Amino acid sequence: MAKAQTNFTCSACAAVTTKWSGRCDNCGDWNTIVEEKPLSKSGPSKKTLGGMRGKKVLLSDLSTKEAPPPRTQCGMVELDRVLGGGLVPASAILVGGDPGIGKSTLMLQAAAKFAQAGLKTIYVSGEESSAQVRMRAQRLGLGDAPVKLAAETNLRDILTTLEAEEPDLVVIDSIQTMWADNVESAPGSVSQVRAAAHEIVTFAKSRNVAVIIVGHVTKDGQLAGPRVVEHMVDTVLYFEGERGHHFRLLRAVKNRFGPAQEIGVFEMTGDGLCEVTNPSALFLSERDKPTAGSVVFAGIEGTRPVLVEFQALVAPSPNAQARRTVVGWDGGRLSMILAVLESRCGIPFAGLDVYLNVAGGMKVTEPAADLAVAAALLSAREDTAIPKDCVVFGELSLSGGLRPVNQTENRLKEAQKLGFSSAIAPSRSKAGDGTGMQIRYMDDLVGFVGDVFGAG
Ligand code: TYD
Ligand code: MG
Repeated sequence: MAKAQTNFTCSACAAVTTKWSGRCDNCGDWNTIVEEKPLSKSGPSKKTLGGMRGKKVLLSDLSTKEAPPPRTQCGMVELDRVLGGGLVPASAILVGGDPGIGKSTLMLQAAAKFAQAGLKTIYVSGEESSAQVRMRAQRLGLGDAPVKLAAETNLRDILTTLEAEEPDLVVIDSIQTMWADNVESAPGSVSQVRAAAHEIVTFAKSRNVAVIIVGHVTKDGQLAGPRVVEHMVDTVLYFEGERGHHFRLLRAVKNRFGPAQEIGVFEMTGDGLCEVTNPSALFLSERDKPTAGSVVFAGIEGTRPVLVEFQALVAPSPNAQARRTVVGWDGGRLSMILAVLESRCGIPFAGLDVYLNVAGGMKVTEPAADLAVAAALLSAREDTAIPKDCVVFGELSLSGGLRPVNQTENRLKEAQKLGFSSAIAPSRSKAGDGTGMQIRYMDDLVGFVGDVFGAG
């Protein structure tokens, strides 16, 4: 008999390969490839379905009127918005994040709020004892919320309990601690996590239960990360933040019931997570006087405008190889902007160390920040401050041209609300009227350099 094919799976990104290697070709992480035993009995067999036919499936057309799903709001505005306007019944939500970032705290607070909003809620912890969870709830002032607790890791027992209790919402904390006894491998392994998530999601869908699954982001090959189950759920949220900062971002990366890329901002305090309703004020550091190298970018996160501050430092390098260090922005994109500055504007950065930082621990992914980054780099290099009442945005092309970006009007309105009075934006931006901002339109980077830094 031919030996069953063994697969190797990356525990960080779930890419499948046929042979082991030290580094995953897909995500670039080291030491994350693990061997996955073939499923022996269950799973599809090699044979075709043969001549046997199944039953005929009922077809419907698109015009059938469907009411929008009823949503339950928990009252934490930041969480409700990230969910797309509240929790949809029978939806499966994955909340990923680094260990210790505050997932359990957020989920306990959310469970308590949803329970208070009238949902029958069960919180299953596989990591902490019920007493520990209770203690935390009491410390957060949620001791009297009608949430039922269970400390259990055996999936069969959990599902039996849920079947009897018929809850509206279940929180599973975390998927890496759960184990299904029909799968041989250890809890936390790729096949175990996948099987457990599949069981939970299928159960939730069939019983009309909403389920929130917590998953740790891991860098260790022994534990499977949440990306392994992303495809099974309706909504994927990541809870992120820098260890040294108190701010936490809940970011929707996939949502079948609302916009993706939506963010919710929280602050970790001694009394749990507090909502931050005006994140722009938070990400702007104290700005009394204009500083060289600091530029405020008017960005959009999801549907919401957010102002963030880029800080750059450019200094002569003592080393043969100059340093390029970036925090909160893409390193490849920084190299691109440096190259455009060098070849289109004739401003060399060779022999100079370049540091770029986004204040407040925020991560920016929008290409619309290109011009703000270029402005911060130039401002640091020329030691010339950008006026402190000015915001900057625009996407750069390799030719040095500037492209207009989406939601210009929203960006300007948010800036104006926070006391900014002028903006630098690409030409052809649809600014709309009534923002009252003084806008300087730029065609390309060369024009920008000449206008703002006096010919460079
Ligand atoms: P936790 O929710 O246990 O993280 P996770 O489930 O993602 O692993 O949060 C742990 C951290 O949060 C811990 O370092 C302490 C901090 N914390 C506070 O600062 N204030 C609080 O009220 C709570 C409950 C936790
Ligand atoms: Mg936890």
